[in-house]
Amino acid sequence: MPKATHLECSLCQQRFDAAQVNGLCSCGGPLLVRYDLDHLRVRWLRRVVADGPANMWRYAPILPPADSHVISLGEGWTPLIRTRRLGSRIGAENLWVKDEGLNPTGSFKARGLSCAISMCVELGIRKVAIPSAGNAAGALAAYAAAAGIEAHIFMPCDVPQANYLECMAYGAKVTLVNGLISDCARMVGERAASDGWFDIGTLKEPYRIEGKKTMGYEVAEQLDWELPEAIFYPTGGGVGLIGMWKAFEEMERLGWIGSRRPKMIAVQAEGCQPVVRAFEENEPRSRFWEGAQTVAAGLRVPKPLGDFLVLEAVRKSGGTAIAVSDAEMLDAGGRLASEEGIFAAPEGASCVSACEKLLASGFLKAADRIVLYNTGSGLKYNEAYATRFPRTAAGEQDKLGGLITPR
Ligand SMILES: Cc1ncc(COP(=O)(O)O)c(C=O)c1O
Ligand SMILES: [Zn+2]
Repeated sequence: MPKATHLECSLCQQRFDAAQVNGLCSCGGPLLVRYDLDHLRVRWLRRVVADGPANMWRYAPILPPADSHVISLGEGWTPLIRTRRLGSRIGAENLWVKDEGLNPTGSFKARGLSCAISMCVELGIRKVAIPSAGNAAGALAAYAAAAGIEAHIFMPCDVPQANYLECMAYGAKVTLVNGLISDCARMVGERAASDGWFDIGTLKEPYRIEGKKTMGYEVAEQLDWELPEAIFYPTGGGVGLIGMWKAFEEMERLGWIGSRRPKMIAVQAEGCQPVVRAFEENEPRSRFWEGAQTVAAGLRVPKPLGDFLVLEAVRKSGGTAIAVSDAEMLDAGGRLASEEGIFAAPEGASCVSACEKLLASGFLKAADRIVLYNTGSGLKYNEAYATRFPRTAAGEQDKLGGLITPR
């Protein structure tokens, strides 16, 4: 099976050799992996996908690494669950949740980093660095550990505790930064060249998007190759949304789906909504969001590098961009958990609240088939959910699994 033919700049369309290590284009544009889709179209039929493994590597022919370089912990092929109570309460007859919280390391970030680390193995890269809002760091640390690669992580000092602990446990070198992910990105950028690190930050390299695009392949396959009317996606850097949009284009060229697309709905936090603002102002790019603040750590991205790609996909799809408050996210997270048995990250829960709003406004119809992406597990957000469910009994803080812990 052919793999990538080349890399292509998403801004100026310059081509790059897929066998070489590449970061951004010289014009600053993120690079996208391109394949010989006409060749694949006749050799890779969608019905054989079902015979593949129950993880995202069932789409290996359209992923860049050679099979022998794949570092997998079982990411992808997450369940698409039809809601039992939530849909009827909010007026959606055909409502689904794609539960990415079941991935290794508890978030969809596993997909992108499995693919990116596999490509590091293929290209002989031994040291990687990442600026992260939290979950990407955990996933990078896990896959780097599995691959035996050195991982350097820069994340805000107020990331969820779970993200810090998992990175330490996986043996990564962690720097906690008194700032935002944009400050972390600057620090990685300053040291990458001198320290010999491959910068694996959002869209700084071409491979994470390839892993994330499998969310688009999966939703099509799980709905029997019929895309839904609307997809809600919690948008920080926006790579998942960009990746799914790329997947739909590839699938159409493979002859697997038609030209109809879901309305792509980018959900952001009220305290950090650069994409929503740009969408409403009809701008092609976003402006830096000052004072970014939200419990949804993954949405605290004040200026996404791929904003123009997110905005383009949202607009072309007839979708929209919408913001949700932290209180609405946590309330929605509680309802999703108690009504459906799905404990979502606040990022994922934001989609529930956004969906309620767009049904109430008439933007979506009751009969529309709607898919909400829960991008991570609520279990990683103890601090955020503890504000909803405080434990006040004396001595509780000393208990660990019912035991009194040594002090
Ligand atoms: C749980 C969760 N959801 C959503 C996002 C945003 O991801 P993207 O960069 O694809 O917009 C993140 C990023 O950190 C995240 O951790
Ligand atoms: Zn370029």
